[in-house]
Amino acid sequence: MADIRRDPRSVVDPAINSPAREGLTGTAPASLYAPSAEREQITIPPDGAPLEAQPAWRQDFPIDWPQDLYVERRDFMKFMVLTSAAFTAGQCWIAAQNWYRRRNGQLAMQRIISVDEMAVGSAVGFTYPDEHEPCLLVRLSPREFVAFNQKCTHLSCAVVPRPAEGSFYCPCHEGRFDLRTGEPTAGPPRRPLTRVVLDIRGRDIYAVGIEERV
Ligand code: FES
Repeated sequence: MADIRRDPRSVVDPAINSPAREGLTGTAPASLYAPSAEREQITIPPDGAPLEAQPAWRQDFPIDWPQDLYVERRDFMKFMVLTSAAFTAGQCWIAAQNWYRRRNGQLAMQRIISVDEMAVGSAVGFTYPDEHEPCLLVRLSPREFVAFNQKCTHLSCAVVPRPAEGSFYCPCHEGRFDLRTGEPTAGPPRRPLTRVVLDIRGRDIYAVGIEERV
């Protein structure tokens, strides 16, 4: 008998090579895998030969192809459900934010700049209603000003004003928005930019609210 203190591999049960594999701990004999009566549950080995003609290793560890495919369908459904749940959660989050803003009344009025400090065709950046929301104010004409949140409605890259082209340009995926309305005009964005409501008092321009649009 081999000395197991020197060679641990010699501990293997010799019965492992018997036809019934009774020495292979934790493995059911091949006879346990009787063909199923259910058409969709019948496993066919890759070579199409009956189970008895398969090599011993395949008889001991048959791959249940129908079950394998079933798991893939189940994983796909799980993916779809999780994706839908994430999308729904995102929509709920936006709705909750809007509800919270409405419930808390008007947003604070915030001075942006003086009319006299902006030339026609120029743009200035500011944040509103808090420091996490970058916005752009553009002077379209001597009497016209527009302001929008600077986050692209595709994947939130910062848009760049291009007054000469009449658009806001998003460099991430070449999205474009109309400079006057904030509506998407090219590229992947489908929703308009969030508009900042302005009020001009005396010579000063104020942000007084935001207008979420879909
Ligand atoms: S993030 Fe603006 S086009 Fe994609």
